[in-house]
Amino acid sequence: MPIDAFDALACPLDGEALHRHDNAWVCPQGHSYDQARQGYTHLLPVQHKRSKEPGDSKAMVEARQRFLAAGHYQPVVELIARLCCPNPLPETTFNILDAGCGEGYYLREFSLLVPESMRVAMAGLDISKPATLAAAKQDKRPTWLVASNAHLPVQDASLDRLLCIFGFPVASEFARVLKPEGRLIQVDPGPMHLHELRTLLYQQVETELEPKAPDLDGFRLVEEDEVSYRFHLTRADDIQDLLMMTPHGHRASAEGRARVAQLSELELTAEVFVRVYEPLVG
Ligand SMILES: C[S@@+](CC[C@H](N)C(=O)[O-])C[C@H]1O[C@@H](n2cnc3c(N)ncnc32)[C@H](O)[C@@H]1O
Ligand SMILES: [Zn+2]
Repeated sequence: MPIDAFDALACPLDGEALHRHDNAWVCPQGHSYDQARQGYTHLLPVQHKRSKEPGDSKAMVEARQRFLAAGHYQPVVELIARLCCPNPLPETTFNILDAGCGEGYYLREFSLLVPESMRVAMAGLDISKPATLAAAKQDKRPTWLVASNAHLPVQDASLDRLLCIFGFPVASEFARVLKPEGRLIQVDPGPMHLHELRTLLYQQVETELEPKAPDLDGFRLVEEDEVSYRFHLTRADDIQDLLMMTPHGHRASAEGRARVAQLSELELTAEVFVRVYEPLVG
């Protein structure tokens, strides 16, 4: 699949289009952002940062990278790719942004699944520098950015697809950057997702029977599908990686974490919803 350069970046300070100049992105007002040696660009101005090291830590990123590399969420990628690809295939370059991309697993895998004849330009951003760095180290083709969903450094009406995978949607920003015919692909855990792990951690867990699609202002849900399957972790380290990459790693009590630490294997349920939203125009 041909991968084109992603050319829809915008200055995070004034929203003007960014143009590539040697190893930097530059706006007409003279703001300049150097691409780091490892291949990512920092587009998160200090006034948009709410803490010194926002987003997932290096340890969380490394745990997620090991867990995802083992293929446990491959059926999730396959469903995303199926709902993401347009029919008929586009004739021009298809612009895709993964907002909250983590260590880049989904864009890497997605590029292996889309049809050979489809041209894409891919960008992934995350507020966590360790996540973006890990993504850039593993795949040089997409444009990788340290940036925030709250102020996407992307031009208005420039995206065909916006992926938000186990992430934090900001509806107004997402609506701003999508083309009128573009689509938001929102991926969220279902009520049974990792139910067994949560039961061990909290002893009592809520499982609503009717999962409801999140309401996103300015969007209309047009399609939804889910994957549900079992997978088996057979090493204590793999169970710890799963715990570490989820919010449960720091949310659960010490007793809950101690119960999980005693396990050397665990059978788990994956239940994931993929929802396609169209922006309401006007
Ligand atoms: C649960 S992880 C999912 C990562 C990736 N989508 C995946 O599924 O492998 C959520 C990610 O969102 C990032 N994040 C948190 N707040 C963010 C924000 N305001 N803008 C962009 N990314 C954010 C975190 O650093 C983290 O990498
Ligand atoms: Zn600027």
